[in-house]
Amino acid sequence: MKSRGNEMRDKKNPGGSFVLVGTSLPVNRMGYGAMQLAGQDGDKRVWGPPRDIPGAIAVLREAVASGVNHIDTSDFYGPHVTNQIIKQALHPYPEDLVIVTKVGARRGADGSWHHARSRQEIIDAVHDNLRNLGLDALQVVNLRLGGFAAPEDEPFEEPLSTLAELKRQGLVQHIGLSTVSPQQLAEAQAITEIVCIQNLYNVAQRGDDRFIEDLAAQGIAYVPYFPLGGFSPLQSAELNAVAASVQATPMQVALAWLLQRAPNILLIPGTSSVGHLRENLAASTLELPPDTIAELDRIASAARRAT
Ligand SMILES: NC(=O)c1ccc[n+]([C@@H]2O[C@H](COP(=O)([O-])OP(=O)(O)OC[C@H]3O[C@@H](n4cnc5c(N)ncnc54)[C@H](OP(=O)(O)O)[C@@H]3O)[C@@H](O)[C@H]2O)c1
Repeated sequence: MKSRGNEMRDKKNPGGSFVLVGTSLPVNRMGYGAMQLAGQDGDKRVWGPPRDIPGAIAVLREAVASGVNHIDTSDFYGPHVTNQIIKQALHPYPEDLVIVTKVGARRGADGSWHHARSRQEIIDAVHDNLRNLGLDALQVVNLRLGGFAAPEDEPFEEPLSTLAELKRQGLVQHIGLSTVSPQQLAEAQAITEIVCIQNLYNVAQRGDDRFIEDLAAQGIAYVPYFPLGGFSPLQSAELNAVAASVQATPMQVALAWLLQRAPNILLIPGTSSVGHLRENLAASTLELPPDTIAELDRIASAARRAT
């Protein structure tokens, strides 16, 4: 299948831009998610260094050279590894680069993921991110709540108030939330300003449709994680057929669909490969006609029926 990779190489504003609410931070809508840059050790995913560190550095440098100025990361990717590679590849950082990190989890020695939401754990996580990224202040920090896929009903006043306190101290500039419900956002807004929401959403999993509209009305960015399906990349006959009809790849269609879905959606597709990065960035020049969008709606209906 034809990839639109070469058409995009020197485009400097992939996907248009969006200013994070209450900030002076304009970010290009086509960003990059750095989680895939960490390694894997047997069953332990997002763990340890990658096999090809120069390759990981090349991905980051090419992303930024191609106009990406929004990189999503966390110090629990690796742990520490992804942030250290970002620093190695890009520090001193370009003026316009916005690095968004997240806190609220820690890794067990067996690669497991645990909540880390006490006041001290949040403070330590912010300092770990500052040190490993080589920054004096973190531009945006997401508090990670919920499970891997869906929000959970749980208290979060302590970790969020701690982040707000770190913001007052100047160590954090802006705060976002991950894996939350609209109700949790409203509760959080009573504590501090929220500039972005990072939840699971893609062409097949559209549980946040209404939430995205509400956030758009408030000017809050919606940043879907697993835009390509995450650890199990999207596979669908409908997606393949649409991709063939518009002479693109299925992953490009999945990303173009998100860009067209709502103006407050910012993309952070993850990849460890320069080839896939180019393919993904090129999706920002792909326009999907209305009949194609209707075809893609069938993927979500089929996914709903399967669950
Ligand atoms: N807030 C949260 O709780 C949370 C959770 C998960 C992720 N995130 C963030 O969201 C970002 C995006 O999620 P993600 O990286 O897990 O998943 P994703 O972007 O949906 O998909 C990444 C997977 O797709 C593959 N891929 C990427 N481009 C491709 C292409 N053009 N063709 C074929 N395969 C391709 C990657 O493999 P290759 O490396 O081989 O390209 C990787 O296996 C992460 O990097 C992370 O920053 C946040």
